[in-house]
This record gives sequence, structure tokens and C-alpha cells, in this order.
Amino acid sequence: MGLSYVILAAAVFDYVAAQTCTTGKWKLSENAECQQCGRCVDSKGQQVACDPNGGTCNPQKCATGYYGDKCLDECGECLGGDRFCMSNGTCRLGCKQGYKGAYCNQQCLAGKFGENCAEKCGECQGGDSKCDKAVGACSDGCVPGWSGLLCRLRCPDGRYGLNCNEKCGHCLFSHQCNKDTGTCTGGCKAGYQGPSCTMSCPRGMYGANCAKSDKEAYGFGIGRLAMGSGSEEEHHGSMRIATPALIVAVAALLVGLAALGAVTYYRRHKKSATSDTAKEKEEADDVETYENVGSPVYKKPVRRH
Ligand SMILES: *[C@@H]1O[C@H](CO)[C@@H](O)[C@H](O)[C@H]1NC(C)=O
Repeated sequence: MGLSYVILAAAVFDYVAAQTCTTGKWKLSENAECQQCGRCVDSKGQQVACDPNGGTCNPQKCATGYYGDKCLDECGECLGGDRFCMSNGTCRLGCKQGYKGAYCNQQCLAGKFGENCAEKCGECQGGDSKCDKAVGACSDGCVPGWSGLLCRLRCPDGRYGLNCNEKCGHCLFSHQCNKDTGTCTGGCKAGYQGPSCTMSCPRGMYGANCAKSDKEAYGFGIGRLAMGSGSEEEHHGSMRIATPALIVAVAALLVGLAALGAVTYYRRHKKSATSDTAKEKEEADDVETYENVGSPVYKKPVRRH
């Protein structure tokens, strides 16, 4: 036992003294540590040892999927597989979908997919991290308003929400239905109300925005008030006169208010747009300057009313 230990120790000493690596290992310089050979193979594809001094393969042939003079470098994600990895590590046919770079070892960045990562991900639920880098499929479905495996299809007009499964309400025009939320951006068809135009007008109301009330009930009430007393015929007579007059008056008032609102909104809007442009042009100027510049335009209608 003691003797074999001595022999082993001597053998180890010999190796170290000779500064040679064991078969299948190599080192770069005398004092460097020995390391494993690369995937050198012979003409039959059998693993062979590399040059213990420097690690190169002789003959210079690597196992499939490896490249470099030492066959230490692993091929990337070549389209068609490792057999299309060339001796310098590039891929003869380009990269597999989801990878890019000369060596096809870089994954697509978040939000990109496909060949050369050239395609842009759709509207995946959960964001770009849920977009498959190879084919672009969204693993958790689409955000509301979008559909398809890649979530690149906008809901068709009249549909909205998750997977475009929801049917829009009675929007004035079906293309005015917000495809994410179902809100009718241009108002409702006559007879309907609510942000999504899903509610019928209340009893006795009708028309656009349910703004019109039942003619009979409304007119009769006003007729009574106007006349105070009198025959049934007179009631009806007054009703016929009072109702159109009142409707015209109310309509005029509404139109006036709407116009005032629109003008105010427009002026305000225009003013802010103007000051934004001004801001870009004269960054150094004080904020008050813009207020002053904008004011005359804005104040006019306020004085008038
Ligand atoms: C790799 O080798 C191929 C042909 O063998 C050549 O067309 C290509 O330019 C080389 N690429 C690099 C990065 O050396």
C-alpha cells in the first residue's frame, strides 16, 4: 500500500515537473492551468484529444454544433439546425426565428419577434414579455380591443373589449364605438342613452340624447298653465299655440348654450395650442408672456357675454 502511494505521488510529481496536461486537456502556457479540450473529432466523428499545448484540434474538425480552431465555441440558433453552422460560427441560412446577430446567439429584444427579429409584437395582454419571440403569439391573449393569435387585429366596427367579444350599443354610427371600452364617441342613436348607448330612453322621453319628451303630456300641461280656465276646446287651442312656441324657445336656448360652449372650448383649445407653439419657439420667455399673448384672443367672447 505504502509503495503504490509513493509510486502515484511520483507519477503526479513527474506530470507537474514535465508541465504537461493529461490526455484530453490542454493549457495555453507553461504556468497556466490545464483545461478540457473542445469537441475535436476525427473523420468518423469520434471525439479525439486536442493539442495539449494550445488546445487546437488536429485534424481541425469539430463535432456538429461547435466551431473555432479549438472547437470550444458553441454554434448559435442556426435556421435548419447545427449542421448549417459554418466553421467560423455563422449560420449558412441565417438564424432561427427569435434570434439575431452574425452568430445567431442573440435573442430578439422584448416586443420583437420572427426572422431577424424584424417583426413587431401585437397588443399582448401582459405586455411584450408575453409575446413569443419566434412566432409573435401572445401567451395570455390580447388587451381589450384587439384579437388574433398575434393580437394585431383591431376589433371590427361594432365590436369591442376582450377578444372583441362584446357587441357595441346603439352608437349613432357603429364606427364611433370605442373598440377598447365600447363607449360611443359620437353619441347615441335616437332612443338610446348612456356612455355606451345601451340604455333605452326613460318613459316619456325620446329622440337624440332622449332630450325630447312626450309631446302630448308636455303640451297639455303647458296648455293648462297658460289658460288657467276655459273650455276643453280652448285648452286644446292654447296647447297647439303654446307647444310649438315653447319648443322653439327651448331649442333656441339650447342652441345658444351649445354655441357658447363650443366657442369657449375652441378658443381655449386654440389658445393652449398657440402657447405650446410659442413655448417651443421662445423657451426662455416667462410663462406670463404667453398668458398676455393669448389673453386678448380669449377674453373677447367673455366680455361680449
Ligand atoms: C464566415 O464564412 C463564410 C463563408 O465560409 C463567409 O461568407 C462569412 O463572411 C464568414 N463570416 C465571418 C463573420 O467571418
